[in-house]
Amino acid sequence: MKIELAESYGFCFGVKRAIKIAEENKNSATYGPLIHNANEIERLKRDFNVALSENLDSFKSGDTAVIRTHGIPKEELSLLKQREVNVIDATCPYVTKPQQICEEMSSQGYDIVIFGDEAHPEIKGVKSYGETHVYVVNSADEVDALRLREKVATVAQTTRKVEDYQQIVAKLMAKHKEVRVFNTICNATFDNQDAAYKLAKEADIMIVIGGKNSSNTKQLHSIAKDQCSDSYHIETPEEIDVAWFVGKIFCGISAGASTPDWIIQSVIERIQQISHS
Ligand code: F3S
Repeated sequence: MKIELAESYGFCFGVKRAIKIAEENKNSATYGPLIHNANEIERLKRDFNVALSENLDSFKSGDTAVIRTHGIPKEELSLLKQREVNVIDATCPYVTKPQQICEEMSSQGYDIVIFGDEAHPEIKGVKSYGETHVYVVNSADEVDALRLREKVATVAQTTRKVEDYQQIVAKLMAKHKEVRVFNTICNATFDNQDAAYKLAKEADIMIVIGGKNSSNTKQLHSIAKDQCSDSYHIETPEEIDVAWFVGKIFCGISAGASTPDWIIQSVIERIQQISHS
């Protein structure tokens, strides 16, 4: 049986990068959860002694603080540096970008409109880089209530849909002479879906790996199932049933954005065993 992984699966670039940075900084602590994955955070603690602290004041001079993928507010970063904490920045470069845009456009006198969720750590961080007149909207309807000055610049939360952002931009353009639009949406979220779709079209069995309550894994499984009726959503290799593979010649594999590589690897090994038996 042929076994093939989707072109894009599992952790995105930014998360993989942050994990590598944390692994390279043993005996440190991340300020806030490094990524949205409890298993991985536990593994970093166990194998690399990278702790997690939600409390800024717990970092003292000489300590090493790893900044999480979603970034932190500018004031908190300055505070850590002032206290002579050794700051290691694992903020995803796709998140650093809107922070920089916000800072620069704001200093040039633009009002800033951020499309995103005000309560999300990424947006709290991005917003903090604007000097004044920074507004966060969650939908195009909310744009109507904004009282903006003439020059406007806009950025979006990395995980937003481009169609929704277009609606916000259209509203801004209808009212303002100068609108600077920065497309800060990250495609990584959607790459796994496109790749699962393509692979499921070819495969006669699809295994989708990820937490049972992970919404993006469920979505991947449903995309796969539409193309390949023998698609299974599993969390661990133990859930695999040998009977699924009888008469199959091409097994496709995909995994949700919060599934660690070591789980994916153990599933592949189990399928290889079945295929050789
Ligand atoms: Fe991942 Fe960075 Fe995009 S964390 S989803 S690559 S913004």
